Amino acid sequence: MPQKVRKAVFPVGGLGTRFLPATKAMPKEMLPVVDKPLIQYAVEEALAAGIEEIIFVTGRGKAAIEDFFDHSFELRQVLGERGKDAELRAIDIPVLEPGRITYTRQQHPMGLGHAVWCARELVGNEPFAILLADDLVMADEPCLKQMVSVYEETGGNVVAVVDVPHEHTNRYGILDVASDQGRLAEVRGMVEKPDPEDAPSTLSIIGRYILLPEIFDYLSEKKVGSGGEIQITDSMARMIGSAPFHGLRFQGRRFDCGDKIGFFEANVAFALARSDLKDQIQGVVNQYAASTVE
Ligand code: G1P
Repeated sequence: MPQKVRKAVFPVGGLGTRFLPATKAMPKEMLPVVDKPLIQYAVEEALAAGIEEIIFVTGRGKAAIEDFFDHSFELRQVLGERGKDAELRAIDIPVLEPGRITYTRQQHPMGLGHAVWCARELVGNEPFAILLADDLVMADEPCLKQMVSVYEETGGNVVAVVDVPHEHTNRYGILDVASDQGRLAEVRGMVEKPDPEDAPSTLSIIGRYILLPEIFDYLSEKKVGSGGEIQITDSMARMIGSAPFHGLRFQGRRFDCGDKIGFFEANVAFALARSDLKDQIQGVVNQYAASTVE
């Protein structure tokens, strides 16, 4: 059995420029889908996969995330006094035992690879997960849990993947596949945001990774890649061959919440999945669908 995945890194230092002005004074990871911030979905997914330690790589203006994963005594007291039981349950968010949640700062946004490298001392010499809160996954079995099950069989590195339209390859890291058994693809290469004509496939990496600590050896070289940033994809590509590397077509649906349309769609889908909101939301959706037809 390969070494257990105990730690998860959450790069949350990004500027969130695609959601300005909303993100001018608030972290994009705190944007709510229905009534829960994106980061809470991601942390809950990690905990459901057996993660025991959480590492946030933050940046300036991200203090709200630290406060969110802490107790809110005043709010709790006021809600208690007013007998607001449902609201009290709503603020019962995962607060890890002291010492199991750490924050480190990426002083300059130099890319995802650099953000992950900032966590190297906190991760140490063991396999770890990375979750990008922008990618929200709706699934019966949480996406990272599915990946941990695969990792326990295959060892090595595992990324979650989804097929995207050919014209969208320039938005994602794209796999070059050696063999494809449907659910699992064996990776022989990968490239960050290739133009559609250069893309080796349409299999795109979503923001869920299980990686061996050797990634830090490559990230330490701080080679600049696509978009002038230090890309995790470039360092992952260099690990291929030294350990198994698989792409998992996970069961479930990914919403790219780094994009306005994806974020909107996630809100509709998650609201429709809620028994307390389903009927009313369906009514609203139908009403707008009908009015556009007229
Ligand atoms: C990052 C990664 C990319 C991956 C994507 C998933 O890109 O660099 O390989 O496909 O996340 O969301 P970003 O969205 O930060 O541009």
